[in-house]
Amino acid sequence: MLKTSYEDVKVDRQDGIAWVTLNRPDKRNAMTPKMHFEMVEILAALEYDSETKVMVLTGAGDSWCAGQDIKLFFRDLDGKIEETARVQEASHHWRWNKLFTYRKPTIAMVNGHCFGGAFTQLIACDFAIAAEDATFGLSEVNWGIMPAGFVAKAITEALSLRDALWYAMTGESFDGRTAEKIRLVNRAVPRERLREETITLATRLMKLSPDAVLATKQALKTVRGIPAEASGDYLLAKAAELRFNDKDAGRSKGMREFLDDKTLRPGISTKA
Ligand code: COA
Repeated sequence: MLKTSYEDVKVDRQDGIAWVTLNRPDKRNAMTPKMHFEMVEILAALEYDSETKVMVLTGAGDSWCAGQDIKLFFRDLDGKIEETARVQEASHHWRWNKLFTYRKPTIAMVNGHCFGGAFTQLIACDFAIAAEDATFGLSEVNWGIMPAGFVAKAITEALSLRDALWYAMTGESFDGRTAEKIRLVNRAVPRERLREETITLATRLMKLSPDAVLATKQALKTVRGIPAEASGDYLLAKAAELRFNDKDAGRSKGMREFLDDKTLRPGISTKA
């Protein structure tokens, strides 16, 4: 169940959107053990919350997330084997396992710095819209470590091997426009339009059948990891599951509107 408040995260629900804000602006929203445990709880609650149709992940102040907190996540946990394992499990659970397969559409609204470990939740979200002047960096190599956690895997999911190697091996930072160019984010927009663009995309998603949107996301994300022959069979089964689960009978409704009523022209849709 969602609590009324958390220490390192803020949650606001409005008009179908759950705005989940990493909330340590003084520390550029670097991730603490507490934040990870809170995020596990928050995402679990919002996933089945009837008020939440789309989840937006953002950061307080001028940063999205400066990666793991170097002191609280790394140095303070050194030598504490069990506590480290517990924190790492929570950290990986919400940032990849939960987000990547989330039952609601997810949008990363990147309002500023995005460094290191933050790439994991960035890539796990279904969509990403960034401020043009946001700063991204796989900075690990700059101070003698490697993009571990899950970052090295996540970046090879989203980027070409060329771009992943370039930014991970040089540690060079880049802005939102470059993030769009290398397809790390869908769009980079002027900072003053970031929220509006995010709401436009969320509103568009909310107008579609939630069952169809979920099945589509699950299908695309799943077939990446399975061979073509098995994908064919999986997709037929998935489509049958969608017809079975879809409370709004979207498929027959869509066919009726297109074939009989002539009120639907699905090929003509506006840009979000
Ligand atoms: N862990 C812990 N603290 C962090 C942090 C992190 N990942 N990122 C920023 N902070 C803290 C700083 O130590 C500073 O704390 P202080 O005010 O107590 O000294 C505060 O946040 C503000 O940081 P500062 O560097 O002064 O802000 P900035 O706006 O000039 O720069 C960054 C912001 C994000 C570019 C810079 O802080 C940075 O490079 N952070 C490290 C990012 C990184 O490499 N993350 C990968 C971790 S694996």
